[in-house]
Amino acid sequence: MTHPAVLETERYVATLHAGDHTGHDMAHLERVRRLAIHLAEGEAVDGLVLTLAALLHDVEDEKLGREAGLVARHLDTLALDPDRREHVLTIIGETSFSKQTDPSTRESAILQDADRLDAIGAIGIARTFQFAGSRGSSLYGEHDPTSAVAHFDAKLFRLANQMHTERARQIARERHAFMVTFLDRFEAEWTGQDI
Ligand code: ADP
Ligand code: NI
Repeated sequence: MTHPAVLETERYVATLHAGDHTGHDMAHLERVRRLAIHLAEGEAVDGLVLTLAALLHDVEDEKLGREAGLVARHLDTLALDPDRREHVLTIIGETSFSKQTDPSTRESAILQDADRLDAIGAIGIARTFQFAGSRGSSLYGEHDPTSAVAHFDAKLFRLANQMHTERARQIARERHAFMVTFLDRFEAEWTGQDI
């Protein structure tokens, strides 16, 4: 049976992330949750904390311009013991790629891996172009650091090396290789080498 706190949190984020076209839709949250549970298999982690953190990890994303304190306020509406509440907040504070924070717990390491896995591979490519479109950025430009393709070097190609769990490292290897293949094709078509 699904824990009531999870049900309420699913409802909360489904409403909050509805209509998102920046790569932070409910489907992203569900994939991160599934990846996190997979990475945690056989490990002594708090599954409830991990699930709540997965669902709530993008609620306060600065890029989405949401106010601080939303997660804490949502957690206050749940019947959750204080240690678990703190743990969820800690994990979420540590997930951001831009902050490059070392995870302080195993659950936090797993959530970082899960979120980063969803930023690479075919899905990662798709999300990058969706994000770029939502910001009005270009596909590619030789001297344009804000283009979607520039984001591969800025972030995507760095992620496979930052995994904490062996399972994530394995999945990341294949997803990384696919992005390399994709960019090779992209360059060939962009420059006309394939015609
Ligand atoms: P996450 O939800 O994994 O923490 P982000 O919030 O950093 O990811 O961004 C959401 C998606 O948009 C990711 O797939 C990310 O790679 C992509 N993205 C973030 N910043 C940019 C950018 N400047 N240009 C293109 N894509 C971006
Ligand atoms: Ni995310």
